[in-house]
Amino acid sequence: MLRVDLYCREDAFATDRTRVLRRSWQFVGHEAMAPNPGDYLAEEIGGAPVVVVRDAEGRLAGFHNVCRHRAGALVADGQGSCGEAFVCRYHGWRYALDGRLRSATDFGSAPGFDPRQYGLYPIKVESWRGLVFVNLDLDAGPLAEALAPLAGAAPLPAFPLVERRSHLLACNWKTYVENYLEGYHLPMVHPEFDEDVVVSDYRVEIEGQVIFHSAPPRDASVYAGTWAWLWPNLAINTYRHGYMIERMTATGPQETRLDYFYFFDPARRDELAAMFAVSDRVTAQDKQVCEEVQRNLRTGIYRGGVLSPKHEHGVAWFQARIAEAHGEPGPVKLVAAS
Ligand code: FES
Ligand SMILES: [Fe+2]
Repeated sequence: MLRVDLYCREDAFATDRTRVLRRSWQFVGHEAMAPNPGDYLAEEIGGAPVVVVRDAEGRLAGFHNVCRHRAGALVADGQGSCGEAFVCRYHGWRYALDGRLRSATDFGSAPGFDPRQYGLYPIKVESWRGLVFVNLDLDAGPLAEALAPLAGAAPLPAFPLVERRSHLLACNWKTYVENYLEGYHLPMVHPEFDEDVVVSDYRVEIEGQVIFHSAPPRDASVYAGTWAWLWPNLAINTYRHGYMIERMTATGPQETRLDYFYFFDPARRDELAAMFAVSDRVTAQDKQVCEEVQRNLRTGIYRGGVLSPKHEHGVAWFQARIAEAHGEPGPVKLVAAS
């Protein structure tokens, strides 16, 4: 079991950001959200502001959203278009979409100043089936390698993004991830779930950096009965007529924002309301239980417990990876039920 302070303390949160979140592939949106040259998606990844932009050739490029002059932001967080160049919001330096400094606006002559040395700091950007990921570690392996276990999965249908929803949770991001990684809590926390899928047949399987969940859907279910979680903080939740990308965004030592991106069959719009109702209910139930766990972790009374070999092997896998990132002794031991 991991040290409890890894779920509570500011310094542990900083380590999560630098050693986990900024060294892994992180979802930023769908290709369709930036279709034209100059279109961008900007947000914080592991606390670092980044921007992904569609260049003149139609390729995606990514940079830290940090001007090389005095660290101004090139664009505001969110979606937008910067046209043919980034123009820093502070003093107006202009950067080409490939990151080169075009013009240090009205800078004056400064001996030895060579604009070629002041290009934007690059990050990695790769797409998989329309989903756009970034990695702040320039030495990271290819996205396709991380997602290899998904290669045989059914293609994601080309449905439009119909809705984005965010939920704020008063818990560490790992508290929520661990909750996501087991089906053990389903009968207690989501008693209605058994009306949608056969909970007794719920399976969790680990393959590489992906943890697959499955359960046979019942006839009237909104679910397709498969879920895939990707290290360290993303899930692809499939519905009968769409899918939802769920990013578990770490916003503070004891704060998490769930960012949901719903893609849905336009011909089935009449079923959207039922899907949202189920999704919102499940999230509210998980929020409650995760916040209660976090409150108990905070008190210091809990010093670690045991994980079920039958149900919580996904949690054990995740905790072992986190322990490794924090330089903790591992691996985590599963204690068999007597
Ligand atoms: S900080 Fe960007 S132009 Fe000054
Ligand atoms: Fe849950």
